[in-house]
Amino acid sequence: MNSLRVISFLAAILLVPILLHGAQTAPRERISINENWRFTKGDPTNSTESLLYDVRKRQPVRRLAEAESDGNSNANPAVTNEVSTPPPAVIKQWILPTGNDFIKDPSRRFSRPSGNPGDSAPYVQPGFDDSSWQQINLPHDWAIEGPFSHSGGGGMGRLPSAGIGWYRKKLTIPASDSGKSIFLDVDGAMSYSAVWLNGKLVGGWPFGYASWRLGLTPYVKPGGENELVIRLDNPPESSRWYPGGGIYRNVWLVKTAPVHVGHWGTQLTTAKTSPEMAMVELEVKVDNDSKQPMNVAVETQIFSLDANGRRSGRAVSAIAPVNLQINAGSNAVTKGQANISKPKLWGPPPQQRPNCYVAVTTVSEAGKVVDIYETPFGVRTLKFDPNAGIIVNGQHIDLKGVCDHHDLGALGAALNYRALQRQLEMLQEMGCNAIRTSHNPPAPELLELTDKMGFLVMDETFDVWVRQKTPFDFHLIFPDWHEQDLRAHLRRDRNHPSVIMWSVGNEVGEQYTGTNGAAVAKELCEIVHEEDPTRPTTTAMNSAQATHALPATVDVIGLNYQGAGVRKAPSQYPVFHEKFPEKVILGSETASAISSRGEYMFPVTTNNSAPTGPNSGKDQARRQVSAYELYSADWGSSADRVFASQEQHPYAGGEFVWTGWDYLGEPTPFDQSRSSYFGIIDLAGFKKDRFYEYQAHWLPDFPMAHILPHWTWPERVGQITPVHVFTSGDEGELFLNGKSLGRKKKGAYEYRLRWDDVVYQPGTLKVVAYKRGRKWATAEMKTAAEPAKLKLEPDRSEIRADGSDLSFVTARFTDKAGVTAPRADNLIHFEIEGPGEIVATDNGDPTSFVPFPSHDRKAFNGLCLVIVRGKPGSEGKIRLTAKAENLGIEKTSIKTTKDAK
Ligand code: GAL
Repeated sequence: MNSLRVISFLAAILLVPILLHGAQTAPRERISINENWRFTKGDPTNSTESLLYDVRKRQPVRRLAEAESDGNSNANPAVTNEVSTPPPAVIKQWILPTGNDFIKDPSRRFSRPSGNPGDSAPYVQPGFDDSSWQQINLPHDWAIEGPFSHSGGGGMGRLPSAGIGWYRKKLTIPASDSGKSIFLDVDGAMSYSAVWLNGKLVGGWPFGYASWRLGLTPYVKPGGENELVIRLDNPPESSRWYPGGGIYRNVWLVKTAPVHVGHWGTQLTTAKTSPEMAMVELEVKVDNDSKQPMNVAVETQIFSLDANGRRSGRAVSAIAPVNLQINAGSNAVTKGQANISKPKLWGPPPQQRPNCYVAVTTVSEAGKVVDIYETPFGVRTLKFDPNAGIIVNGQHIDLKGVCDHHDLGALGAALNYRALQRQLEMLQEMGCNAIRTSHNPPAPELLELTDKMGFLVMDETFDVWVRQKTPFDFHLIFPDWHEQDLRAHLRRDRNHPSVIMWSVGNEVGEQYTGTNGAAVAKELCEIVHEEDPTRPTTTAMNSAQATHALPATVDVIGLNYQGAGVRKAPSQYPVFHEKFPEKVILGSETASAISSRGEYMFPVTTNNSAPTGPNSGKDQARRQVSAYELYSADWGSSADRVFASQEQHPYAGGEFVWTGWDYLGEPTPFDQSRSSYFGIIDLAGFKKDRFYEYQAHWLPDFPMAHILPHWTWPERVGQITPVHVFTSGDEGELFLNGKSLGRKKKGAYEYRLRWDDVVYQPGTLKVVAYKRGRKWATAEMKTAAEPAKLKLEPDRSEIRADGSDLSFVTARFTDKAGVTAPRADNLIHFEIEGPGEIVATDNGDPTSFVPFPSHDRKAFNGLCLVIVRGKPGSEGKIRLTAKAENLGIEKTSIKTTKDAK
């Protein structure tokens, strides 16, 4: 550092207390407006006005011609049509301008037509009496309470997610907010949102996975009550999994001075990093919403963050003030640099630590602080090496990843921080170090957590481009919205250290459309490179061949299933590696193994992977799949087969298993069920046997052994009952009632020890595992007697009294001696007293149609889950009681406090 820089660095550090003092007076506020909404399903019956986003898309047979005029022009078909049958209002032209900031070519941006759709809709009117509507807090999923439907396909989860929903909220905006810029930030609403404030249509956003902002300033009435109305229109047949319905993520009111850092207005990179020094490069976009040109000074301090995301100590570096002149109603960008000496790097555990920093940017006008904006980040280098895979901070990291959908099981799509954290904690316990956000932008909180916990993320935007997968999916709006949705996603997420690559699509139909499809891919990849020159693009391909046009357009080759080989086909890794020697290749989606926790079917295949079929791993009548963990969807493979393929192709960067957690919908191979069989962890959060197979392979230094199946088979005495063991050791000896059944060693590319000719007799199975010849771990499995007791096991016995924090309580049946009763299916009735409530129950059974809020549920293979939430603001002791059929009463308590961790 030269002396001038040292001086400015010190000056910046000394200035920090002054600036922090300024922080208290800076006008930026980000206020949660999740509470106290009114909600109703469906449009008013007495309304003459229907508010379709786009008549052509949703009413294909009616007045097709009229809609042709709506292209990208600003014509209002509702107005320009000669009308014999009045067409529904089409609000698309009022919605499209919301995305203008994300359209690069100014000539393609939209202007707002005159008129105010919704004028005659009663629910939109200020003063409408909504007191009979349901009172709810956000995040809200209107479908999760059910009921499950027996008719139709199971793909979307059999829950009533489709339909129209209205939300209304009164916002008190004080007179002192006059002159401020005011925004509505919606992290996610499913889907086709339209927003009115005080009776005026402000805008909206169709894509249900997008996060978006609306400028409310011209519509706000400071000094009184303002009425915010949001209408959603969630189409049927629009998804291949459960999308949820409603405003299912957080919603914020943001208030700033007219001059402020823009929406997602910073871009921070740390590409030039060594152990001695990290160069932080920061771009800041400042908006001037006022009617005068403005001169501002923009400066930034950098702090390190502790493990809880709190600032620790003094600034470690700074970017000196830069003066910026911004025209009225315009914006300007400043770029600066700062060095962090001996940076604490961000990287995935267990090899590395996820250290984080925050850049605090201050905008001042005439010496007065007008905005303070925080950009959390991490310092790390990323290299994609076609022969070695992913290199983080100079160290090779094999991606041990999973794909996950956004739902949180019995809680549905409604975001809950603790539920998401629990998902990630269990995955980390398994050795998982990477997440693919299949197949859409995740909740912002997911990336907050992956930053903190150190997961590497493949951040994915689309499941569909132009070619549809379901009749009303994203293909309908791809032409109008793909640029806005992609740029918005990139700008929202690009400062997260956990994000390592962008997937622009999953198994898109454009794999089959040659150069036309590749042209779409190329456009999307160019957008990514413009918005983020530091990370590669990929798309997940299940059928594209190396000679097709699509693979050539992406930076990283992501293969779905083709890495292990689909059906009898050999691995396609070598073919792609040869064709694209300059590109990293990885398993963007692997396995699609399926199982039901605790279900075992006989005979057991002698192969290391088999599709389910008649007499192959599934019980058609009960709609369950064997948990010997050897069975998969027809196009997939067991974990064993995938591990082998990954190890045989060491240049491949790793894998993302389909899926980490079970999810609602897509219940392959039994369409009549409600939820998937793919998860390594079931929908309730109970570990399937497969969990231990991944743990054994992904955490080779963690001593563990796990035996399957359970050993309670009164009807199998004398019958062959194979015993398999997952261990991070390489060898094991199995004992039944003290008698050795032999010592076995894993062969090349084998990931389990199997004793396939064990003759069942009740008692105790024990395995002693060895690693490199030394005793490494042991495990036991005992025959259980009749279920005699119920135990309640909260995952946390102290939770925050904030109306959001949760305790996940396992109800476990055991026999008299405390051995888990692995087949118990007794009915349990739950009751709760004190400052808490039961949000939902589940047992992980994909065939159960008992609605999630029910307080009565049967155990599934010994276990049941009850999810408890503390009431906001009321501290104390929550008492949970479980009454099990014929087995008496069991109690536990959970403390809620304002300051629980
Ligand atoms: C893949 C697809 C996933 C899921 C999975 C089930 O082809 O990308 O979304 O459908 O199959 O096996």
